[in-house]
Amino acid sequence: MGETLQAVRGMNDLLPDQSSCWQFVEGQIRSVLEAYGMQEIRMPIVEKTELFKRSIGEVTDIVEKEMYSFEDRNGDSLTLRPEGTAGCVRACIQHGLLRNQVQRLWYYGPMFRHERPQKGRYRQFFQVGVEVFGLEGPDIDAELLLLTARLWKRLGLERVTLQLNSLGTVAARARFREQLVAWLGERQDQLDGDSRRRLKTNPMRILDSKNPDVQALLEGAPILEDFIDAESRSHFQDVCAYLDAAGVPYEVNPRLVRGLDYYGRTVFEWVTSELGAQGTICAGGRYDALVEYLGGSPVPAVGFAMGMERLVELVEHRSDGIPVTTPHLYLVVAGETARREGLLLAEQLRDSTPDLRVVTHCGGGSFKSQFRKADRSGAPYALVLGEEELQAREVAVKPLRGQGEQERISIEALADRLRVLLAL
Ligand code: HAM
Repeated sequence: MGETLQAVRGMNDLLPDQSSCWQFVEGQIRSVLEAYGMQEIRMPIVEKTELFKRSIGEVTDIVEKEMYSFEDRNGDSLTLRPEGTAGCVRACIQHGLLRNQVQRLWYYGPMFRHERPQKGRYRQFFQVGVEVFGLEGPDIDAELLLLTARLWKRLGLERVTLQLNSLGTVAARARFREQLVAWLGERQDQLDGDSRRRLKTNPMRILDSKNPDVQALLEGAPILEDFIDAESRSHFQDVCAYLDAAGVPYEVNPRLVRGLDYYGRTVFEWVTSELGAQGTICAGGRYDALVEYLGGSPVPAVGFAMGMERLVELVEHRSDGIPVTTPHLYLVVAGETARREGLLLAEQLRDSTPDLRVVTHCGGGSFKSQFRKADRSGAPYALVLGEEELQAREVAVKPLRGQGEQERISIEALADRLRVLLAL
């Protein structure tokens, strides 16, 4: 016998007892997205490696050390997408979706990053992303934040907080970067190895350092806010004013810089303290320069993505639980003829009542064992079809959750009676 094979580390199976919660979260997200006029787009999971290098940035953690890249049989370098923004922009440019039009788009699917797996951090994870193209004002930034706030409410999540910052324009950021490098350069001996390396490659990311000594040193460093241009500043103030008017609380966090290079102006993260170290459930911001950078005409853009595993984990811990989908009926059959007739009866019921969920007992077994399975299925009623019922062209409807008496109903009247019992 061979060794039993395991899934790839950091890549999860989603088991049947988890799928109800996922479907609940997916359903709520879809309905909120529709309430804001968002349209779905689906992109390939694999893109050219070049796309991610150019958009996310050569010297980011993702591109430097987390991508699943490989050469295909033609020798082209391809990558399993680590995020959705790059592919979405690529698709929009390729199909001319950005010509004088506003696009409000969303996507859902697996993303891949070779990070060290831990609770809430996986190598395959699912994101729902939203990208809006063609709108430059602060109103859309604010509306996306209202959308997410509405979603948390729908999902029953109370302890999530919004962190906001503005990165200013590319030029403002370049000036800040210069000053920061000069300031930190004079204090190199106080930096750890990682930060010293970043000083040469991606100094802004030093602000993200988890090292308390580096954080203490940064207390005196130049801050980005002082470099922000007037227009970006007023854009940011307007975003904040919209949120104030809508009653959505937020915290301005001048240290929030994000790990991808394409951002400018508004950036944000929704965080919770309930998931341990991986507490960011949703993150995004403005990336007005990316479309042009990837070869399109300049089009402003803003978006975000949320981590499904983290959201589902939070929802699973909700005190009131979530609705679980169980069958309405479990069909118990006794005898060869009833077994055959049973399958057909279930088909007829599904024809007449499209929302009906019926599990037909397959594989034989005693009444007792069939009823045990009926019970375990969570169905409120068992339908019983035995020789006697068949002869009489009837079916017994047996409540499984203590709701009333067993009844015998003619096959002709069955669908109508079930619709009443199940309120369908
Ligand atoms: P991101 O911050 O890299 O942004 O990821 C967004 C969210 O995906 C995170 O806040 C987190 O919830 C989830 N996530 C990221 N990595 C992992 C992981 N290894 N395991 C589990 N969950 C994870 C982006 O990807 C941008 N594309 C967001 C965006 C869209 N910005 C503008 N438009």
